[in-house]
Amino acid sequence: MLSLLRLLQDGRFHSGEALGAALGVSRSAIWKQLQVMEAEWALPVHRVRGRGYRLESQLLLLDEDVLAVNGAARGWPLSILPTVDSTNAEVLRRLASGHVPPFIMLAERQTAGRGRRGRSWVSPFGENLNYSLALQIDGGRRQLEGLSLVVGLALLRALQASGVVRAGLKWPNDLLVDGRKIAGILLELSGDPADVCHVVIGIGVNVNMLVDKGSIDQPWTSMRAELGGAVDRNEFVCELNRQLSLYLGMHQAHGFSALRNEWQDNHLWQGRSVTLATGANPITGVVLGVDQSGAIRLRVAGVEQNFSGGELSLRLSDDS
Ligand code: BTN
Repeated sequence: MLSLLRLLQDGRFHSGEALGAALGVSRSAIWKQLQVMEAEWALPVHRVRGRGYRLESQLLLLDEDVLAVNGAARGWPLSILPTVDSTNAEVLRRLASGHVPPFIMLAERQTAGRGRRGRSWVSPFGENLNYSLALQIDGGRRQLEGLSLVVGLALLRALQASGVVRAGLKWPNDLLVDGRKIAGILLELSGDPADVCHVVIGIGVNVNMLVDKGSIDQPWTSMRAELGGAVDRNEFVCELNRQLSLYLGMHQAHGFSALRNEWQDNHLWQGRSVTLATGANPITGVVLGVDQSGAIRLRVAGVEQNFSGGELSLRLSDDS
């Protein structure tokens, strides 16, 4: 079915006869594959009598040949699935069945993409980046300290290098442009964090999505919306791999403290008055920065307090 999709990805009309000839199958086999494609990948195909079939819009598919070479060059074997529930979930399953990290998993579409705090993550076919990197952590808790913030920094640099120069960070690891979310990060652990464990670094980037079919519950944007043109996700993955390898290397060698100032310099809400939703009681304070472990430092009623963990969220409480 992927071979058929490759022929259709230009968004132009192709006759059933031409598609069948290119793939060495009958017109009715093409028709059946298109039915399955629509059902399983949620990819609308337009049919016009006399002209043939075309996708609703042009796609730039992920290219396993290019990306596998790029990943392997960094020691990160890479595979691509057309559709999966969640790349993070798939990586966790593969780790549990003995796959040895590091490795990268990408998917054109997720049917149950996972966001932070139990949210879902929208991943229509062929539009965005659904990326999970599995790593082994054998340096205990220190190697995990600030890790998700460092991934945010690497992702920020990849976005900036791709032209999205106004992107910035929101603690703990959201990437925003003008208050609208462009990318998010979900780290999931398996094993014993105090000893040897595996971390799955899940990264979702709104790359070419221009329309949401109604389920995103917060302001959002995409690289395409910011840049005014379609982005080649293959180039972006290569840039992301480059930045991740650089920043994860610095983090492993020197710890989060070496990257803390750089993170704070790119924190959009540094020095601003915020409300932190944690448990039952929201806390209002001024953002002072982050500590050595990546916890946020707030001045609350004149006293500094630090908050860590994945269950926190920030909300602007004024427009300071
Ligand atoms: C967030 O809520 O901001 C985190 C979103 C993380 C989404 C990515 S997409 C690839 C990976 N697989 C998932 O199921 N989630 C992460």
